Amino acid sequence: MINSNNRITQLLTQEHETILQLGQILKKINGLWKNNEKKFIEIIDFLLHFCQIYADKIHHLKEEQILFPIMIEQNPMLEQGAVGEMNDQHEMFREFIIEIKIAMENKDFEIAYSIFQKYVELLSDHIQIENFEVFPMADDLLSSEINEQLYFKALDVDMEYSREKNELTQKVNQLLKDLNIVIS
Ligand SMILES: [Fe+2]
Ligand SMILES: [Fe+2]
Repeated sequence: MINSNNRITQLLTQEHETILQLGQILKKINGLWKNNEKKFIEIIDFLLHFCQIYADKIHHLKEEQILFPIMIEQNPMLEQGAVGEMNDQHEMFREFIIEIKIAMENKDFEIAYSIFQKYVELLSDHIQIENFEVFPMADDLLSSEINEQLYFKALDVDMEYSREKNELTQKVNQLLKDLNIVIS
């Protein structure tokens, strides 16, 4: 018996919610490097770690290795279309992270911050395209059986990274709380 809630697309959409919290945190630390450099570095280091582990290793990898190949198998045109575009953007996000790290190492905080802002802006657009175009396309394209099979494959990945995923989610929530306290 197939449960229509067991869709890989639903699981990925939930992860998008956590990833989008990055933007809220980043907004709140604008200019922090001027009066608390240590705190700014600490938060950016965490955000970079979050992007590399949660957004990239846990989330993008599930899209690239579990969902997208099956979509392309069902409709090969997607490799040069919407799905190929999503894969290319994942690569671009990896390059952004490297650029932010270099700027941080050089203590070019303003530059690091503005690249990070651009990263979040592009990542938010990417997420909108997935939520409103690519995932609905996947739901139409894949049978409920396949969508559920992919959901369980994705859960296996989550099991493998469950400790990291929980820790990162908790830290993001804690940071949001702490920043509210500091700022209000
Ligand atoms: Fe993506
Ligand atoms: Fe995504």
